Amino acid sequence: MTLIFDAVTKRFATGTTALDDVSLDVGPREFVSVVGPSGCGKSTLLRLASGLDVASSGTVRVDAERLSYVFQDPALLEWRSAARNVELVGELRGVEKQERRLRARAALALVGLEGFAQQHPRQLSGGMRMRVSLARALVSDPQLALFDEPFGALDEITRLQMQSELQRLFAAPDTHFAGLFITHSVSEAVYLSTRVLVMSGRPGRIVDEIDVPFAHPRPPDLRHTAEFAELTGRVSAALAGEVAA
Ligand SMILES: Nc1ncnc2c1ncn2[C@@H]1O[C@H](COP(=O)(O)OP(=O)(O)OP(=O)(O)O)[C@@H](O)[C@H]1O
Ligand SMILES: [Mg+2]
Repeated sequence: MTLIFDAVTKRFATGTTALDDVSLDVGPREFVSVVGPSGCGKSTLLRLASGLDVASSGTVRVDAERLSYVFQDPALLEWRSAARNVELVGELRGVEKQERRLRARAALALVGLEGFAQQHPRQLSGGMRMRVSLARALVSDPQLALFDEPFGALDEITRLQMQSELQRLFAAPDTHFAGLFITHSVSEAVYLSTRVLVMSGRPGRIVDEIDVPFAHPRPPDLRHTAEFAELTGRVSAALAGEVAA
């Protein structure tokens, strides 16, 4: 699995240049976060990575057999149970009924929702709905998972729980995805990632790249260590444009 952006620029017909000369790569088992100011082109970057949109110049190469996309909103179908929402991916791919049921059940168990498979989205909490969305993204065993601020709408406590959950899933021996994760939260980026990319204001360029060396799985109290504070400080400083190389 590799994702490579080489000198990618994206200009819309409206005249807005959203991305300017962006080069990046994501390799197997990497989890790369992108932080940057609102409107700098982060969602645009993800849409290009997914093939939903194309670059104006430069090249985007995605070498991944299975790719999944997690939106800020869980985007569940209200008339389907949690299990049937997760099964939808298999239905669209023509996976046989018995098989897709088993896979959906396993994916829901993975996110701690085994007892809630038959509930409908309105019967679930916001955090649980986001868990269903994660299960739907992981049920196809993706090689690359794209996340567009998936926890942005959650309260702080649920958000920290979801970060631990996703981090545990990333580290689990039976999941093998690489991640490209958009967020506004510096601590979320550092906690989850193997690498953090910092973008400038529009048109978005990558202005810094910070390696996060902590081993996975990461305990929640890693967030309270001096090493963690050092890295979040570096990312914040880069965001504020204060870092002199
Ligand atoms: N389809 C489109 N047509 C024209 N302009 C667009 C389109 N999509 C995005 N833009 C513009 O591109 C710029 C970047 O938008 P984008 O949604 O990528 O930002 P973002 O970094 O994800 O912002 P946020 O953090 O608020 O989600 C914005 O100025 C936006 O108006
Ligand atoms: Mg966005």
